[in-house]
Amino acid sequence: MKIIAGNWKMNGSRDALSNMITALRDVDTENTIILCVPYTMLGVESDRVHMGAQDVSAHDHGAFTGEISANMISDTGAKYVIVGHSERRAYHNETNDIVRQKATMALSNGLTPIICVGETMDEKQAGKTMEIIESGVRESVPTDATGNIIIAYEPRWAIGAGLTPTDTEIATAHKLIADTLTSMGLGGTPVLYGASVKGSNAAQIMSIPNVDGVLVGGASLKPDDFIPIITSVK
Ligand code: PGA
Repeated sequence: MKIIAGNWKMNGSRDALSNMITALRDVDTENTIILCVPYTMLGVESDRVHMGAQDVSAHDHGAFTGEISANMISDTGAKYVIVGHSERRAYHNETNDIVRQKATMALSNGLTPIICVGETMDEKQAGKTMEIIESGVRESVPTDATGNIIIAYEPRWAIGAGLTPTDTEIATAHKLIADTLTSMGLGGTPVLYGASVKGSNAAQIMSIPNVDGVLVGGASLKPDDFIPIITSVK
């Protein structure tokens, strides 16, 4: 059983979500399906699909115009929230430290944070991939986390680019993340792969050791693209 999570980013509509949920109703799978959608689309009930947000405030409540707290996300019935996505790190200057604060907020409000880590092209070319991944995990995961977290390895240079690392690169990164989590007392934490996952590569990627599922951007927007990813593995 794998975890198949979609990240709609700033796309979609409430109608599109309702169509997706209807389309997923009859899909024969035991995989866990999560859809992380814009805040305005949360509040939808489905016994098939778990809902998630894409970001959360690092603050509990108060004068933070425009921000959404973990408690508010939880109040919609959502169970998950992505934190530290590459686009938040790139466009909103989110550091591992901020990501850890957000993940802590999520955990203390009963949400499972999907904590993203991964290297940029510059970091990859400088030979820093392993260092960035390991520090990403050590510094972004709350020190008192006892479980109920998911890690997503997303090589930032590959997101939305139609590029994927080699199987060996994915295996090496996921082994490092699994070992790092074990050394932090969090062995067994699910680790997803994300970046340019599609129906044609999903099964192969999820056959790599320590890949417990996928986080899918573009190919999660339409049932015709998303369902083949869900059904590509048992
Ligand atoms: P992509 O995005 O599947 O469109 O590459 C993945 C992500 O950003 O989570």
